[in-house]
Amino acid sequence: MEITTIKGFKDILPQEAAIWQWVETQAREIFRAFGFKEIRPPLLERTDLFSRTIGEDTDIVSKQMYSLSDSKGRGVTLRPEATASVVRAYIQHRLYHDMPIQKLFVMGPMFRHERPQKGRFRQFHQINAEIFGDPGPVSDADIINMAVHFFDSLNLEPLTLIINSLGCTRCRGGFRKDLKDYLVQRRDLLCPDCRKRAKVNPLRVFDCKVEGCRAVVAEAPSILDYICNDCQTHFGGLQEYLEGLQIPFAVDHTLVRGLDYYYRTTFEIQSDRLGSQNAVAGGGRYDGLVKQMGGPDHPAIGFAVGVERMMELLDGSTKKVNECPELFIAVLGDKAGEKTFPWLSELRRSGIYVEMEYGSKGLKAQMKRADRLGAKRVLIVGDNELASGKGILRDMETKAQFEVDLDSPVEALKKMIASKTEC
Ligand code: HAM
Repeated sequence: MEITTIKGFKDILPQEAAIWQWVETQAREIFRAFGFKEIRPPLLERTDLFSRTIGEDTDIVSKQMYSLSDSKGRGVTLRPEATASVVRAYIQHRLYHDMPIQKLFVMGPMFRHERPQKGRFRQFHQINAEIFGDPGPVSDADIINMAVHFFDSLNLEPLTLIINSLGCTRCRGGFRKDLKDYLVQRRDLLCPDCRKRAKVNPLRVFDCKVEGCRAVVAEAPSILDYICNDCQTHFGGLQEYLEGLQIPFAVDHTLVRGLDYYYRTTFEIQSDRLGSQNAVAGGGRYDGLVKQMGGPDHPAIGFAVGVERMMELLDGSTKKVNECPELFIAVLGDKAGEKTFPWLSELRRSGIYVEMEYGSKGLKAQMKRADRLGAKRVLIVGDNELASGKGILRDMETKAQFEVDLDSPVEALKKMIASKTEC
């Protein structure tokens, strides 16, 4: 029986992978300009790391983790997100000793056992960026600016930036209490999950997508009516910096995001072309988490882009990044094949994309393949060309033909390819 991919997991096929590489290169270049360094944490971590950072009552931890026991019976989990791992690495390797401000990014796969649907996979990819050591709001605006600039660089359709403040541990207490009372009074209108959430972790009701629950939270108390002066100053500061950067935004008091570690700023970048899974990136501040996980009391903020959702928005750019060979070498006969094989190698070793058939094929079949690959030019070498010392170089676009001296063909070809004027 044919074995295929697991539900919610997918192959990234070569044509798509070319766009992924382009997107990742854009991210690397932009992140470098903003001073971010790459970190590559492992995919498998202790389960505790995620339950203690993301929160036991979140959907991610309570329902969606790919967890198993190792041979010693210890719980290990395929990472459902990267922030927890970056925080662990920041503490474990004392990265704060190197530099008071650490700016780190992670790219790679995440795993969540969610119900697969458009924009939602069980293995998906994120591009994460995190800043440690600054309480904001300048760093909040800086990292949001980087995310916006990244999407602009990909020429994505206009996206919407939504921001909110969840307050700090002091002001959130009053809000939690009032929210809980409000939700408990309306428990009959909530789904079974939210009835439980209303009691143990009422903020999580905001994440629920069930119609009835959405209607209840739409009328719920607003966190923005509860935040203390310091949190208000912080949130006001962020808005001023964004205005200074001419980045449009909307404030939405229901944007609590599905992870427990957020503190003050939360934000999402959304697209109305994505359907119900409309967030192409999300993030926020998580001051307190580094300390809670055993590190120093360092503030932090970050975001993650969902790469599959971003790819959905990029649909149609496939051809742009499809690389075509600069040269195809078409050979007639074994002798010509043996003679030209080292030329192919030398051109490739100098970084030029060159193709050639492995087996012996007729000229027509080779020209057809060169055409399908989109080769810009074809060098034709057979017994006659070897005898005369002159190969034929055909420009596939203009159909013009040139002679190439076969005594030193590699240098001549390199020059022609570099000049791009002829052939
Ligand atoms: P998150 O909102 O869970 O945040 O995920 C960030 C982005 O990953 C989402 O906006 C979405 O684009 C994408 N995403 C999430 N789940 C899926 C899925 N099942 N399939 C496809 N794409 C998905 C975090 O993960 C935080 N760690 C972000 C962060 C970094 N906060 C601070 N620093």
